[in-house]
Amino acid sequence: MYTKDTARLLARLGIVALLAAFGLILTTTPSQAASTLRAAAAEKNIVIGTAVATGPLASETAYRTTVAREFNSLTAENAMKWDTVEPSPNSFNWSGGDAVVNFAAANGQRVYGHTLVWHSQAPSWVQNLPAAELLPAMRNHITKVMQHYSTVDSWDVVNEVIGDNAAYRDSFWYQKLGSSYIAEAFRAARAANPSAKLYINDYNIDGVNAKSTMYYNMIRDLKAQGVPIDGIGFQAHLIVGGVPGDMRANLQRFADLGLDVRITELDIRMQTPSDATKLARQATDYAAVVNACLGVSRCRGITIWGFTDKYSWVPDVFPGQGAALIYDANYQAKPAYTSTLTALGGTPGDPGPGPDPGTGPCRITYRTNDWQGGFTGSVTIANTGTAAISSWSLVWTFPSGQTVSQGWNGTYSQSGTTVTVRNVSYNGSIAPGQSTQTGFNGTWTGSNPAPSAFTLNGTACTLG
Ligand code: XIL
Repeated sequence: MYTKDTARLLARLGIVALLAAFGLILTTTPSQAASTLRAAAAEKNIVIGTAVATGPLASETAYRTTVAREFNSLTAENAMKWDTVEPSPNSFNWSGGDAVVNFAAANGQRVYGHTLVWHSQAPSWVQNLPAAELLPAMRNHITKVMQHYSTVDSWDVVNEVIGDNAAYRDSFWYQKLGSSYIAEAFRAARAANPSAKLYINDYNIDGVNAKSTMYYNMIRDLKAQGVPIDGIGFQAHLIVGGVPGDMRANLQRFADLGLDVRITELDIRMQTPSDATKLARQATDYAAVVNACLGVSRCRGITIWGFTDKYSWVPDVFPGQGAALIYDANYQAKPAYTSTLTALGGTPGDPGPGPDPGTGPCRITYRTNDWQGGFTGSVTIANTGTAAISSWSLVWTFPSGQTVSQGWNGTYSQSGTTVTVRNVSYNGSIAPGQSTQTGFNGTWTGSNPAPSAFTLNGTACTLG
């Protein structure tokens, strides 16, 4: 029987339920505090990135799990530089950069492109080109690289074009083309990918000084001429105790020119061995750099030039110095990690191991049986995700000009070096934990390396 008492009881229960739900919200909120760099940076709506080396990214579990857990942006430390990507004229090697792009896609990270035009790590064939051929080669490089790495949304278009004497760097670019190559590089980059943010990048410009002022004047003039520059990267290869006190003000003056600003290659080195005093000072310095960025609304974020002292360019280039990063060589967080996290608004806690970066939604096993000029390829597609796959399209790029002549258990098509395989009627469904296999005959010349990346229905798969 429905009485007034029942109604009152129900009303009271409703209030109890509401209070319970409210209590739940109150009790769950504190445990959501950001305890990783990427969670904290996401709340500030900025990027926290790291440069990555392709060797440990492919094979070292502690390296991979830390990159996946802590960072929301990756920069290839070397794999997208000219000498790696285009070692001989118009012949491209995408594999290292593809590995970075695929790791990022599998882990919800962005990729910052580094770098299209630089005097260093440029192959000798470029350096030796006659002036008349240099500009076309530069345009071709910019176009091909940006169009291949089309998911990279920001690029260092030119790197280190001003010398420490605050004049145009006397590089082979400048000697053959004068300063005009800078504007030409930006124009070519805008044409290649109109939605990418285009940056200029250098070191020793972190504070207000003659070199950064040269940049300020040059960019102001280039923008007045309509040259498409969107941002400036401050490398910030710094020394403990040496963070410029006017870093925020310096970033702000470039922001006021209408530019996005970023810290692109942060590391803060010390004389080794490290000790507690130096590590504490380093922690303060990292926080100061984070605060300089947070103090400028157009600062898009901070990328650290690596993260573990196990892999850092510093000891190789600055003898006697090192320990410049936020994790030690055993992947233990240093005081600088904690100060960076705290400056980003996070709360140190046990972040746990984080997601296993080896487990994306799919895993591809690619095997070949080779003979002179020909081969049979076998491709296994495993559904490592939680959702069923009901139809699929698998895409890869052959790194060495191989061609598919005939396929089975799939409909094959090839355009240039890109192969697309679609399921046939009987193998479109792959339940979670299940796999299916497809295969083909192909031809090769020279060598028959495996593709470095596979995309299933637009999502990068891990390789196994
Ligand atoms: C460095 C890499 O870290 C090294 O592995 C490589 O041997 C040389 O280049 N400024 C830049 C980066 O723009 O590309 C440089 O990276 C560091 C200085």
